[in-house]
Amino acid sequence: MTKVGILLGSLRKASFSRKLAENVANLFPEGYETEFVEIGKLPLYNQDFDDHNQVPAEYTTFRDTVKGLDAVLFVTPEYNRSIPAVLKNAIDVGSRPYGQSIWDGKPAAIISQSPGNLSGFGANHHLRQSLVCLNMPILQQPEAYIGNVTALFDENGKIVNEGTVRFLQSFTDAFVDLIKKYKG
Ligand code: FNR
Repeated sequence: MTKVGILLGSLRKASFSRKLAENVANLFPEGYETEFVEIGKLPLYNQDFDDHNQVPAEYTTFRDTVKGLDAVLFVTPEYNRSIPAVLKNAIDVGSRPYGQSIWDGKPAAIISQSPGNLSGFGANHHLRQSLVCLNMPILQQPEAYIGNVTALFDENGKIVNEGTVRFLQSFTDAFVDLIKKYKG
């Protein structure tokens, strides 16, 4: 079984990022399982925790969970032209202690979304910048910028637009190809 972790850039109950991610989770082929990774309860990263052996239990659980994954899918809104702090915090927590990053070499893919037309472009690329630094092989094409999300779902949270589903299927297929390259 290949395990794909999903990290969301939003803690909001009715989050469009979550709805989008739940739809994408269903597009992976047999032999793949997805898991939403909790990041909302991670204390803000403080290097003293690692330097003085006072690592919060939430850090340990999170680091162990991600270590057990084969790949990571990020689905995020844009906050003030960048990624939400909760997601950056999770990335920072996972990147330390120095030399023990949980991200190193793990294939990743990014979907950004927004209610408007900009589709979270700024967040998508700020996130890409961090993932490059962390040595994560990132899906290059297709890039996933999902705009106008408020009109995308029916009352059950299912994507109503067939073109968007087709696009997300091609995105997921390309991500699976990338994962296979690294998993062998
Ligand atoms: C936003 N939003 C937003 N949208 C955007 O396209 N560019 C931006 O820079 C911002 N900035 C921003 C900052 C903050 C603090 C908030 C709360 C919101 C709007 C945002 O895209 C919208 O609320 C999304 O619906 C949030 O995603 P979730 O929570 O639905 O997943």
